Amino acid sequence: MRIVLVGPPGAGKGTQAAFLANNLSIPHISTGDLFRANISQKTELGKLAKSYMDRGELVPDEVTIAMAKDRMEKPDAVNGFLLDGFPRNVSQAEALDEMLQSEGMKLDAVLDLEVPEAEVVKRIAGRRICRNDSAHVFHVTYKQPAKEGVCDVCGGELYQRDDDSEETVRKRLEVYHTQTEPIIDYYKAQGLVVTISALGKVEDVTSRAMEALRREDHAA
Ligand code: AP5
Repeated sequence: MRIVLVGPPGAGKGTQAAFLANNLSIPHISTGDLFRANISQKTELGKLAKSYMDRGELVPDEVTIAMAKDRMEKPDAVNGFLLDGFPRNVSQAEALDEMLQSEGMKLDAVLDLEVPEAEVVKRIAGRRICRNDSAHVFHVTYKQPAKEGVCDVCGGELYQRDDDSEETVRKRLEVYHTQTEPIIDYYKAQGLVVTISALGKVEDVTSRAMEALRREDHAA
């Protein structure tokens, strides 16, 4: 399957993507994680991305689309992928459609995670991620590591993302409403959107998502 995951910052996209990608045997492709990997490797792309991410703004389309395309062309993505954080505006969605059409492929579903703003603010405020791998995500209340400040998976140091400050989160939410939400209508016009509530236990959200994707797959 080729799936796009949409939802506000802190909705739980990364958390769900890890389980869904595993259940569906497809790679989880997160543009946020790709940028953070470039930042920790101190690449030119990482330096450029950081200047936008720290302000809560979108990294320019040109570099983002090229990076996403490059990742989608890797051999593990031949039979499908789960996109998390891409596309993030209508021009990225159009670029993705063109990319897929040129290969005779199409998206199967766009999974929209719905969470009230007060909840995403709580989720972001308590989020801690691993210095070794930003895909290792914890929460001070909802998903506590066995040892405070230490990643359960690899023993790395847990820290708060630079863009998780209150001011930057406010900006990221504004960017989500103005630039990213319009892609939901873009994909509704293609009949691809399935919306689920992302409230409740992580495993309950995963079951809800799997059920919605199965229904979508049968309907196709
Ligand atoms: P990105 O990394 O994509 O951030 P985001 O979309 O803002 O989403 P988050 O990573 O903040 O949240 P999430 O939904 O993954 O939640 P998580 O699972 O961690 O992008 C960051 C920046 O990169 C952007 O601002 C932009 O600058 C740039 N960028 C990225 N892609 C781009 C693109 N395509 N174009 C241009 N720029 C781009 O969960 C959050 C917390 O909640 C965790 O602590 C988790 O443990 C907890 N949690 C999760 N689920 C639950 C639950 N059910 N109950 C309780 N707690 C939960």
